[in-house]
Amino acid sequence: MKTIFPDGKQDICRCMLKGCRLTFFFFLISMVFFAVEQAQAGLREDDCAKCHPFQLQTLAAEGGKHATEVGCLDCHPEHPPKGENTISACVLCHEGKPHFEIDYCLDCHANPHKPLASLRDTMKSMRTECLTCHAEVGQQMAAATSRHAELFCTNCHDRHGFIPSCLACHAPHLPVQTDADCFKCHRQAHGPLQVEPAASLPSAFCQPCHDKETRDLAGTTTYHGALSCVYCHNGPHPAMPRCQDCHGLPHANKLNHSQYRLCLNCHGNAHRLIRNP
Ligand code: HEC
Ligand code: HEC
Ligand code: HEC
Ligand code: HEC
Ligand code: HEC
Ligand code: HEC
Ligand code: HEC
Ligand code: HEC
Ligand code: HEC
Ligand code: HEC
Ligand code: HEC
Ligand code: HEC
Repeated sequence: MKTIFPDGKQDICRCMLKGCRLTFFFFLISMVFFAVEQAQAGLREDDCAKCHPFQLQTLAAEGGKHATEVGCLDCHPEHPPKGENTISACVLCHEGKPHFEIDYCLDCHANPHKPLASLRDTMKSMRTECLTCHAEVGQQMAAATSRHAELFCTNCHDRHGFIPSCLACHAPHLPVQTDADCFKCHRQAHGPLQVEPAASLPSAFCQPCHDKETRDLAGTTTYHGALSCVYCHNGPHPAMPRCQDCHGLPHANKLNHSQYRLCLNCHGNAHRLIRNP
């Protein structure tokens, strides 16, 4: 251009060209907005796919009931830039269950266009949210209070459905104890202070906390030595049996029991029995 026109004309020409480009640019912009406004004004479902094919594909492939039971316009009644009501709240359609009173649905249902397929593990610490579906766990915790009830559910269940090992957080009472062994006494993960030893429990499992009784029993040559701790101490810890629960009053004929009520006065100790006092 420089060679054909003298300087002045060249400037005018440039100006005209620029103007043309600008006009064309504004024309394009207004076309887009016109098209958008068309979509908005017409509010037709078929139009959405022209500009948002990805959302449509997602819904069609994994949308579940959001694809079959609702349309784009049910959730997006208006369109930008004019409309402000562009995204409906979940509670508009989901109400009447405790689960629908949670604040941030998208924490778990990451993508509303595939609400179940995009279900993810929450990154937040949660408790009340979980109880909206697992109310029975809240009841267990209220019935058997322990410090587990002060934790977030997600401290232990850091993935949905994941069951943690007790040993991930606690040392066992004895090195040989496995995770399954914990449940032989702590029957309830959500109420671990309720201890009810299983009938098959080996006596060695009582030893870490009751060393004297365990050694006494192991050392006796009486028949009691052949019995396991839980044979006598059966029921919720600390169950305390009485001699007469098993033996009745064996000397009722020979001895005056009102005088010798305490069996241990003669027989010494349940774990280190004096056989023939
Ligand atoms: C001509 C193209 C076009 C059509 C047709 C169109 N959109 Fe859009 N849409 C856009 C553009 C461009 C944006 C981004 C505008 C913005 O962020 O201001 C957008 C943004 C959106 C948003 C995001 C809104 C927000 O607040 O973030 C939603 C939702 C949406 N469109 C839904 C729809 C639905 C539903 C339809 C069918 C009824 C539709 N669109 C039809 C072009 C279109
Ligand atoms: C059940 C309600 C629901 C339906 C049905 C639905 N959407 Fe959405 N859509 C949403 C929500 C909620 C968001 C906001 C997501 C966010 O904030 O992360 C969204 C976001 C969008 C966006 C913004 C970009 C993005 O993906 O986040 C577009 C575009 C969009 N939807 C288009 C559509 C189209 C097109 C359809 C129909 C084919 C459709 N939506 C159907 C609820 C829905
Ligand atoms: C315009 C109404 C509407 C809105 C808004 C809406 N949903 Fe739904 N949703 C439905 C309907 C209808 C169903 C199918 C019936 C049912 O399960 O209640 C459904 C089903 C679901 C399902 C089960 C899907 C399946 O395939 O079984 C989930 C999960 C869900 N919605 C989550 C959400 C979340 C999260 C939001 C907010 C981001 C939301 N919905 C917003 C109408 C809506
Ligand atoms: C802590 C994670 C979490 C949050 C937050 C959450 N959900 Fe869910 N939601 C789930 C899980 C897990 C399921 C699947 C349960 C199943 O497999 O049946 C589900 C299932 C659903 C279902 C289908 C089953 C039903 O009960 O009808 C709907 C609808 C639903 N959620 C809506 C919502 C809405 C609406 C919100 C927000 C108010 C929300 N969810 C927040 C985890 C969550
Ligand atoms: C201290 C760790 C811990 C905490 C905190 C915890 N759980 Fe658990 N939860 C477990 C363990 C371990 C199991 C496995 C129990 C079993 O196998 O008998 C379990 C089992 C479950 C189960 C399966 C069904 C059942 O009752 O056995 C559900 C559901 C559950 N937990 C939900 C929750 C919810 C909801 C919370 C929060 C209110 C929570 N948990 C808090 C450790 C924990
Ligand atoms: C929308 C309801 C819903 C919500 C919210 C929910 N769950 Fe669940 N959860 C379920 C259902 C339904 C199952 C059974 C699914 C299965 O068997 O695969 C389940 C299974 C579980 C299990 C495994 C139970 C077993 O027997 O193995 C645990 C643990 C669990 N959920 C913990 C949680 C925790 C922790 C949260 C909160 C972060 C939570 N859930 C939120 C519905 C829900
Ligand atoms: C994610 C870690 C975690 C897991 C898994 C866990 N606990 Fe705990 N537990 C704790 C915390 C934290 C405490 C609170 C006391 C403390 O700081 O040690 C506790 C306390 C306890 C207490 C004492 C309760 C009280 O109120 O004094 C018992 C008993 C117990 N846990 C047993 C178990 C058993 C049995 C299991 C397996 C079913 C288990 N725990 C799984 C973290 C855990
Ligand atoms: C023989 C039954 C028995 C077995 C098996 C058992 N516990 Fe215990 N545990 C108890 C008793 C009893 C207490 C004390 C409760 C109290 O103080 O009233 C206790 C207390 C605890 C405590 C509270 C803190 C402490 O040390 O006093 C934790 C944590 C604990 N157990 C974890 C475990 C774990 C983990 C396992 C599995 C490796 C396990 N227990 C196996 C009976 C058992
Ligand atoms: C983790 C330690 C621990 C284990 C394991 C344990 N106990 Fe205990 N036990 C205690 C504590 C602490 C007490 C005293 C506090 C109480 O009464 O709860 C106790 C109290 C008792 C008492 C009542 C003592 C009294 O003077 O009233 C009996 C009986 C008893 N335990 C039997 C058992 C038997 C049987 C086992 C094995 C099945 C066992 N314990 C396992 C910690 C333990
Ligand atoms: C849970 C049941 C149970 C309890 C409680 C119990 N015993 Fe025994 N005892 C037995 C059994 C079983 C034998 C074996 C012989 C038999 O079958 O009578 C036995 C045997 C004995 C013998 C005979 C020992 C021998 O080797 O000849 C004496 C003495 C005795 N018990 C005293 C007591 C006294 C004293 C108490 C209370 C401190 C007591 N027992 C508590 C079940 C029990
Ligand atoms: C033959 C039944 C029997 C067996 C087996 C037995 N106990 Fe006992 N135990 C008793 C009786 C009865 C008492 C109550 C004694 C009393 O009234 O003072 C008792 C008392 C106790 C006490 C309370 C403190 C004490 O010494 O009085 C503890 C702790 C205890 N037993 C632990 C154990 C442990 C641990 C084992 C297993 C190693 C065990 N017992 C086995 C019957 C038994
Ligand atoms: C005054 C001391 C004395 C008292 C108190 C006493 N016993 Fe004895 N017991 C004996 C003597 C001595 C023998 C061995 C001789 C015999 O068989 O009579 C014996 C034997 C036993 C035997 C084994 C033989 C048999 O008869 O089965 C049992 C079991 C027994 N006692 C249980 C008990 C119980 C239970 C009590 C408390 C209700 C008790 N004893 C109170 C002195 C006593």
